[in-house]
Amino acid sequence: MQPGKPLSTKIDATVPTAARMYDHYLGGKDNYAADRAACEELDKVVPSTRTLALNNRRFLQRIVRTLAREYGIRQFLDHGSGLPTQDNVHQVAQQIDPSAHVVYVDNDPMVLVHGRALLEQDERTTVIHADLRETEAIFTHPDTERLIDFSQPVAVLFNSVFHCIPDSGTDGPQAVVRRVSERLAPGSYLVMCQLVSEDPEVREFVTDFMDQATQGHWGRVRQEKDVAALFEGLDILDPGLVEVSTWRPDTEVAPRQLTQEWIEFGGVGRLG
Ligand SMILES: C[S@@+](CC[C@H](N)C(=O)[O-])C[C@H]1O[C@@H](n2cnc3c(N)ncnc32)[C@H](O)[C@@H]1O
Repeated sequence: MQPGKPLSTKIDATVPTAARMYDHYLGGKDNYAADRAACEELDKVVPSTRTLALNNRRFLQRIVRTLAREYGIRQFLDHGSGLPTQDNVHQVAQQIDPSAHVVYVDNDPMVLVHGRALLEQDERTTVIHADLRETEAIFTHPDTERLIDFSQPVAVLFNSVFHCIPDSGTDGPQAVVRRVSERLAPGSYLVMCQLVSEDPEVREFVTDFMDQATQGHWGRVRQEKDVAALFEGLDILDPGLVEVSTWRPDTEVAPRQLTQEWIEFGGVGRLG
Protein backbone atom coordinates (compact mmCIF):
# COMPACT_ATOMS: atom_id res chain seq x y z
CA MET A 1 0.00 0.00 0.00
CA GLN A 2 1.44 3.34 -0.98
CA PRO A 3 -0.02 5.98 1.32
CA GLY A 4 -1.77 8.84 -0.43
CA LYS A 5 -1.69 7.22 -3.90
CA PRO A 6 -4.99 8.20 -5.61
CA LEU A 7 -7.27 5.25 -6.34
CA SER A 8 -8.39 4.63 -9.90
CA THR A 9 -11.92 5.82 -10.60
CA LYS A 10 -12.16 3.69 -13.75
CA ILE A 11 -14.80 0.95 -13.67
CA ASP A 12 -13.61 -2.23 -15.39
CA ALA A 13 -16.60 -4.45 -16.15
CA THR A 14 -14.39 -7.37 -17.18
CA VAL A 15 -12.67 -7.94 -13.82
CA PRO A 16 -14.93 -9.07 -10.96
CA THR A 17 -14.86 -7.06 -7.74
CA ALA A 18 -15.86 -8.05 -4.22
CA ALA A 19 -18.39 -5.19 -4.08
CA ARG A 20 -20.18 -6.19 -7.27
CA MET A 21 -20.13 -9.94 -6.51
CA TYR A 22 -21.62 -9.20 -3.08
CA ASP A 23 -24.24 -7.00 -4.76
CA HIS A 24 -25.17 -9.89 -7.04
CA TYR A 25 -25.52 -12.25 -4.07
CA LEU A 26 -27.81 -9.73 -2.36
CA GLY A 27 -30.01 -9.56 -5.47
CA GLY A 28 -28.78 -6.13 -6.60
CA LYS A 29 -28.44 -4.84 -10.15
CA ASP A 30 -25.08 -3.04 -9.90
CA ASN A 31 -22.96 -5.89 -11.24
CA TYR A 32 -21.72 -7.25 -14.57
CA ALA A 33 -21.55 -10.61 -16.36
CA ALA A 34 -17.97 -11.16 -15.10
CA ASP A 35 -19.12 -10.74 -11.48
CA ARG A 36 -22.01 -13.14 -11.93
CA ALA A 37 -19.80 -15.71 -13.65
CA ALA A 38 -17.33 -15.56 -10.74
CA CYS A 39 -20.18 -16.10 -8.26
CA GLU A 40 -21.32 -19.12 -10.25
CA GLU A 41 -17.83 -20.64 -10.08
CA LEU A 42 -17.56 -19.91 -6.37
CA ASP A 43 -20.93 -21.54 -5.70
CA LYS A 44 -19.58 -24.84 -6.98
CA VAL A 45 -17.27 -25.03 -3.95
CA VAL A 46 -19.13 -22.92 -1.39
CA PRO A 47 -22.80 -23.23 -2.37
CA SER A 48 -24.09 -21.49 0.74
CA THR A 49 -22.59 -18.13 -0.21
CA ARG A 50 -25.81 -16.34 -1.16
CA THR A 51 -27.37 -17.19 2.20
CA LEU A 52 -24.17 -16.20 3.91
CA ALA A 53 -24.24 -12.80 2.18
CA LEU A 54 -27.90 -12.18 3.05
CA ASN A 55 -27.28 -13.09 6.68
CA ASN A 56 -24.19 -10.90 6.79
CA ARG A 57 -26.18 -7.91 5.60
CA ARG A 58 -28.89 -8.56 8.20
CA PHE A 59 -26.20 -8.82 10.88
CA LEU A 60 -24.87 -5.40 9.87
CA GLN A 61 -28.36 -3.91 10.10
CA ARG A 62 -29.03 -5.50 13.52
CA ILE A 63 -25.71 -4.27 14.87
CA VAL A 64 -26.27 -0.69 13.71
CA ARG A 65 -29.81 -0.70 15.09
CA THR A 66 -28.61 -2.15 18.40
CA LEU A 67 -25.70 0.29 18.76
CA ALA A 68 -27.96 3.25 17.97
CA ARG A 69 -30.95 2.17 20.06
CA GLU A 70 -29.39 0.44 23.06
CA TYR A 71 -25.91 2.00 23.25
CA GLY A 72 -26.68 5.55 22.15
CA ILE A 73 -24.24 5.64 19.22
CA ARG A 74 -24.88 8.47 16.77
CA GLN A 75 -21.71 8.39 14.63
CA PHE A 76 -20.65 5.57 12.33
CA LEU A 77 -17.48 5.15 10.27
CA ASP A 78 -18.07 2.25 7.88
CA HIS A 79 -14.96 0.79 6.18
CA GLY A 80 -15.67 -1.30 3.08
CA SER A 81 -19.29 -0.18 3.01
CA GLY A 82 -20.29 -1.91 -0.22
CA LEU A 83 -22.75 -0.84 -2.90
CA PRO A 84 -25.91 0.80 -1.60
CA THR A 85 -28.75 -1.66 -1.11
CA GLN A 86 -31.87 -1.55 1.05
CA ASP A 87 -31.54 -0.47 4.69
CA ASN A 88 -28.04 0.94 4.43
CA VAL A 89 -26.20 1.94 7.60
CA HIS A 90 -27.30 5.60 7.49
CA GLN A 91 -30.93 4.65 6.91
CA VAL A 92 -30.96 2.19 9.82
CA ALA A 93 -29.20 4.64 12.16
CA GLN A 94 -31.37 7.58 11.10
CA GLN A 95 -34.53 5.56 11.74
CA ILE A 96 -33.47 5.58 15.40
CA ASP A 97 -32.23 9.18 15.34
CA PRO A 98 -32.41 11.34 12.19
CA SER A 99 -29.40 13.33 13.41
CA ALA A 100 -27.05 10.30 13.19
CA HIS A 101 -23.91 10.86 11.09
CA VAL A 102 -22.34 8.26 8.81
CA VAL A 103 -19.09 8.21 6.81
CA TYR A 104 -18.78 5.42 4.27
CA VAL A 105 -15.35 4.37 2.95
CA ASP A 106 -14.82 2.06 -0.01
CA ASN A 107 -12.12 1.60 -2.64
CA ASP A 108 -14.47 0.41 -5.42
CA PRO A 109 -15.24 3.25 -7.86
CA MET A 110 -18.72 1.85 -8.46
CA VAL A 111 -19.54 2.34 -4.76
CA LEU A 112 -18.51 5.96 -5.05
CA VAL A 113 -20.78 6.60 -8.05
CA HIS A 114 -23.86 4.91 -6.60
CA GLY A 115 -23.18 6.13 -3.07
CA ARG A 116 -22.93 9.77 -4.15
CA ALA A 117 -26.16 9.46 -6.14
CA LEU A 118 -27.98 8.04 -3.11
CA LEU A 119 -26.58 10.60 -0.69
CA GLU A 120 -26.99 13.77 -2.72
CA GLN A 121 -29.71 15.10 -0.42
CA ASP A 122 -28.23 13.85 2.87
CA GLU A 123 -25.95 16.30 4.64
CA ARG A 124 -25.28 13.93 7.51
CA THR A 125 -23.80 11.16 5.39
CA THR A 126 -20.94 10.94 2.92
CA VAL A 127 -18.91 8.40 0.97
CA ILE A 128 -15.13 8.61 0.70
CA HIS A 129 -13.18 6.83 -2.02
CA ALA A 130 -10.21 5.39 -0.12
CA ASP A 131 -8.43 2.23 0.82
CA LEU A 132 -9.41 1.22 4.33
CA ARG A 133 -5.72 0.85 5.24
CA GLU A 134 -5.20 4.60 4.83
CA THR A 135 -6.20 5.46 8.38
CA GLU A 136 -4.56 8.89 8.44
CA ALA A 137 -6.14 9.99 5.14
CA ILE A 138 -9.58 8.71 6.20
CA PHE A 139 -9.55 10.29 9.66
CA THR A 140 -8.29 13.66 8.39
CA HIS A 141 -10.51 13.78 5.30
CA PRO A 142 -12.52 17.04 5.39
CA ASP A 143 -15.82 15.13 5.24
CA THR A 144 -14.81 12.88 8.13
CA GLU A 145 -13.75 15.91 10.18
CA ARG A 146 -17.04 17.62 9.37
CA LEU A 147 -19.23 14.67 10.32
CA ILE A 148 -17.45 12.77 13.07
CA ASP A 149 -16.36 14.09 16.45
CA PHE A 150 -13.66 11.66 17.57
CA SER A 151 -13.68 13.06 21.12
CA GLN A 152 -17.05 11.27 21.43
CA PRO A 153 -17.82 7.54 21.07
CA VAL A 154 -18.15 6.29 17.52
CA ALA A 155 -18.90 2.90 15.99
CA VAL A 156 -16.19 1.90 13.53
CA LEU A 157 -17.29 -0.86 11.17
CA PHE A 158 -15.13 -3.39 9.36
CA ASN A 159 -17.97 -5.63 8.34
CA SER A 160 -17.09 -8.47 5.98
CA VAL A 161 -14.05 -6.69 4.60
CA PHE A 162 -10.82 -7.88 6.23
CA HIS A 163 -10.78 -10.98 3.97
CA CYS A 164 -10.23 -8.48 1.14
CA ILE A 165 -6.81 -7.44 2.49
CA PRO A 166 -3.73 -9.61 2.97
CA ASP A 167 -1.71 -10.05 6.15
CA SER A 168 1.00 -7.46 6.66
CA GLY A 169 2.82 -6.13 9.69
CA THR A 170 2.05 -2.52 8.78
CA ASP A 171 -1.16 -2.82 6.76
CA GLY A 172 -2.86 -6.09 7.69
CA PRO A 173 -6.07 -6.24 9.74
CA GLN A 174 -4.19 -6.26 13.09
CA ALA A 175 -2.22 -3.12 12.22
CA VAL A 176 -5.30 -1.29 10.91
CA VAL A 177 -7.30 -2.10 14.04
CA ARG A 178 -4.43 -0.92 16.25
CA ARG A 179 -4.07 2.37 14.35
CA VAL A 180 -7.80 3.05 14.36
CA SER A 181 -8.26 2.14 18.05
CA GLU A 182 -5.59 4.63 19.08
CA ARG A 183 -7.71 7.42 17.60
CA LEU A 184 -11.02 6.52 19.26
CA ALA A 185 -12.59 7.82 22.47
CA PRO A 186 -13.31 5.34 25.27
CA GLY A 187 -16.79 3.90 24.84
CA SER A 188 -16.34 3.56 21.08
CA TYR A 189 -17.20 0.28 19.37
CA LEU A 190 -15.47 -1.82 16.74
CA VAL A 191 -17.66 -4.07 14.59
CA MET A 192 -15.65 -6.74 12.81
CA CYS A 193 -16.48 -9.91 10.94
CA GLN A 194 -14.89 -11.71 8.03
CA LEU A 195 -15.04 -14.92 6.02
CA VAL A 196 -13.52 -17.85 7.90
CA SER A 197 -13.21 -21.58 7.39
CA GLU A 198 -11.74 -24.26 9.59
CA ASP A 199 -11.23 -26.43 6.49
CA PRO A 200 -7.75 -25.81 5.02
CA GLU A 201 -8.84 -26.93 1.54
CA VAL A 202 -11.68 -24.41 1.44
CA ARG A 203 -9.40 -21.67 2.75
CA GLU A 204 -6.80 -22.39 0.08
CA PHE A 205 -9.21 -22.84 -2.82
CA VAL A 206 -11.30 -19.74 -2.16
CA THR A 207 -8.32 -17.55 -1.38
CA ASP A 208 -6.63 -18.55 -4.66
CA PHE A 209 -9.85 -18.31 -6.66
CA MET A 210 -10.73 -14.82 -5.41
CA ASP A 211 -7.17 -13.60 -5.75
CA GLN A 212 -7.10 -14.63 -9.40
CA ALA A 213 -10.66 -13.49 -10.18
CA THR A 214 -10.12 -9.99 -8.73
CA GLN A 215 -6.57 -9.73 -10.09
CA GLY A 216 -4.99 -9.46 -6.67
CA HIS A 217 -7.60 -7.32 -4.89
CA TRP A 218 -8.14 -9.88 -2.20
CA GLY A 219 -6.69 -11.00 1.11
CA ARG A 220 -7.46 -14.39 2.53
CA VAL A 221 -10.05 -16.56 4.17
CA ARG A 222 -8.92 -16.82 7.78
CA GLN A 223 -9.82 -18.86 10.85
CA GLU A 224 -11.96 -17.98 13.85
CA LYS A 225 -8.82 -17.59 15.96
CA ASP A 226 -7.52 -14.89 13.61
CA VAL A 227 -10.71 -12.89 14.06
CA ALA A 228 -10.60 -13.39 17.83
CA ALA A 229 -7.07 -11.93 17.86
CA LEU A 230 -8.43 -8.66 16.43
CA PHE A 231 -10.65 -8.26 19.50
CA GLU A 232 -7.84 -8.58 22.04
CA GLY A 233 -8.11 -5.88 24.69
CA LEU A 234 -11.73 -5.03 23.79
CA ASP A 235 -14.81 -5.81 25.89
CA ILE A 236 -16.79 -8.10 23.64
CA LEU A 237 -20.55 -7.60 23.72
CA ASP A 238 -22.85 -10.59 24.23
CA PRO A 239 -23.16 -13.14 22.70
CA GLY A 240 -19.43 -12.95 21.90
CA LEU A 241 -17.79 -13.85 18.61
CA VAL A 242 -20.15 -16.01 16.57
CA GLU A 243 -21.41 -17.00 13.14
CA VAL A 244 -23.14 -13.73 12.38
CA SER A 245 -26.72 -14.96 11.88
CA THR A 246 -26.67 -16.02 15.56
CA TRP A 247 -25.69 -12.55 16.85
CA ARG A 248 -28.80 -11.35 18.74
CA PRO A 249 -31.23 -12.69 16.13
CA ASP A 250 -34.45 -10.72 15.84
CA THR A 251 -37.94 -11.95 15.13
CA GLU A 252 -37.62 -11.77 11.35
CA VAL A 253 -37.34 -15.13 9.66
CA ALA A 254 -33.69 -15.49 8.63
CA PRO A 255 -32.54 -17.81 5.85
CA ARG A 256 -30.72 -20.80 7.30
CA GLN A 257 -27.23 -21.44 5.93
CA LEU A 258 -27.62 -25.09 4.97
CA THR A 259 -23.91 -25.85 4.61
CA GLN A 260 -21.06 -24.21 6.49
CA GLU A 261 -17.93 -24.66 4.38
CA TRP A 262 -17.26 -21.06 5.24
CA ILE A 263 -19.04 -18.57 7.46
CA GLU A 264 -18.98 -14.90 8.39
CA PHE A 265 -17.60 -14.82 11.91
CA GLY A 266 -17.27 -11.86 14.25
CA GLY A 267 -18.98 -9.53 16.69
CA VAL A 268 -18.70 -6.20 18.47
CA GLY A 269 -15.97 -4.97 20.84
CA ARG A 270 -16.05 -1.91 23.11
CA LEU A 271 -13.01 0.19 23.88
CA GLY A 272 -12.68 0.68 27.62
C1 LIG B 1 -18.39 -8.06 1.07
S1 LIG B 1 -18.54 -6.34 0.87
C2 LIG B 1 -19.16 -5.86 2.46
C3 LIG B 1 -20.05 -4.67 2.42
C4 LIG B 1 -20.64 -4.24 3.78
N1 LIG B 1 -19.59 -3.90 4.71
C5 LIG B 1 -21.49 -5.31 4.37
O1 LIG B 1 -21.04 -6.01 5.30
O2 LIG B 1 -22.63 -5.47 3.92
C6 LIG B 1 -16.81 -5.80 0.97
C7 LIG B 1 -16.64 -4.33 0.58
O3 LIG B 1 -15.32 -3.91 0.97
C8 LIG B 1 -14.76 -3.13 -0.08
N2 LIG B 1 -13.29 -3.22 0.03
C9 LIG B 1 -12.50 -4.29 -0.25
N3 LIG B 1 -11.21 -4.01 -0.02
C10 LIG B 1 -11.18 -2.72 0.41
C11 LIG B 1 -10.13 -1.85 0.79
N4 LIG B 1 -8.86 -2.26 0.78
N5 LIG B 1 -10.44 -0.59 1.15
C12 LIG B 1 -11.75 -0.16 1.15
N6 LIG B 1 -12.79 -0.95 0.82
C13 LIG B 1 -12.51 -2.21 0.44
C14 LIG B 1 -15.31 -3.75 -1.35
O4 LIG B 1 -15.25 -2.84 -2.43
C15 LIG B 1 -16.72 -4.09 -0.92
O5 LIG B 1 -17.59 -3.02 -1.17
